[in-house]
Amino acid sequence: MNLKIALLAGDGIGPEVIREAVKVSESIAKKFNHKISWKEGLVGAAAIDKTGDPYPIETHDVCLDSDAVLFGAVGDPKFDNDPSAKVRPEEGLLRMRKKLGLYANIRPTYTFDSLMDKSPIKRSIIEGTDLVFVRELTGGIYFGKRGRKDNNNFAFDTCEYSKEEIIRLAKIGFELSLKRSKKLCCIDKANVLESSRLWRETVQSMEKEYPDVQVSYEFVDAVAMRLIQNPSSYDVLITGNLFGDILTDEASVISGSMGLMPSASVGLKTSIYEPIHGSYPQAKGKNIANPLATILSASMMFEGSFGLIEESELIKQVVSDSITKKIVTGDLSGNDKFYSTEEVGSWICKRIEKG
Ligand code: IPM
Ligand code: MN
Repeated sequence: MNLKIALLAGDGIGPEVIREAVKVSESIAKKFNHKISWKEGLVGAAAIDKTGDPYPIETHDVCLDSDAVLFGAVGDPKFDNDPSAKVRPEEGLLRMRKKLGLYANIRPTYTFDSLMDKSPIKRSIIEGTDLVFVRELTGGIYFGKRGRKDNNNFAFDTCEYSKEEIIRLAKIGFELSLKRSKKLCCIDKANVLESSRLWRETVQSMEKEYPDVQVSYEFVDAVAMRLIQNPSSYDVLITGNLFGDILTDEASVISGSMGLMPSASVGLKTSIYEPIHGSYPQAKGKNIANPLATILSASMMFEGSFGLIEESELIKQVVSDSITKKIVTGDLSGNDKFYSTEEVGSWICKRIEKG
């Protein structure tokens, strides 16, 4: 099969972790007789530095012209402490999601047996955790009306949702839950917010189309708590953009390191696969970042955009082996020897090719 993949490495550790995901994808291509053509695009601070725009039109064209996008990370500290910055790297990611119509962000959290004791949460609590967030990604407070008034002394951001936006997102959640344990949790703040009440009534009205799915409705504050107290009680969770942003970071530490969890953003045009961690600028260029989340994102890509399930499963299996055999970066090694970003990637490639 010919696979056309766009590569948007971005900022910070983005290029380093992307390099390993490319190596691993090439090993998969070699083993299964595929041919990958890669096309690079600028995004984030790297794109601002070169073009002034965090998501240049050339990059958008590269994405449109590809079957899938593999994405690193965006963000640079030089923008973080400057509220007056006219343009920010994150804007590139947001614009890309919007222009590609990627309204659903799929973020799994699962545990690895050999890492149970790395989690800040007790083994007895996290054992058996295997959940997936479906976060709405192109609406809500991220994209609602915002501005300043009163000589800049008053600011507002608005959470806006249409019924159509909720239906298309919830559909992905319902369908995913049919393939899993048929349990769906809708997260909102319907005791306070009007937009949440629309979420709840819309999802309720869809229940009859999915009689096999057992739906629960929970307030976001309660979920934040129960995610730590009893994460294995959840399976598929659907929620709006901001709640999903916050809860998926929270959920990601359950597995032991934020450097482990992948994600897929899907919708109308080319899907994007990216690690859920950020650009981790402190580690940039040091060859110490954990490449596993990006490698697992490539695994999601083989399945999600190309239907190549065997390829996808093999990557997951070998990543799991690397963790069991302790071929891991410093964030996962504890007091044991740790390996560089590159060494972890190369170990996985070798294992794929000879396995
Ligand atoms: C994420 C990130 C982004 C978001 C930022 C970088 C704009 O935190 O993908 O979760 O808030 O969506
Ligand atoms: Mn986030």
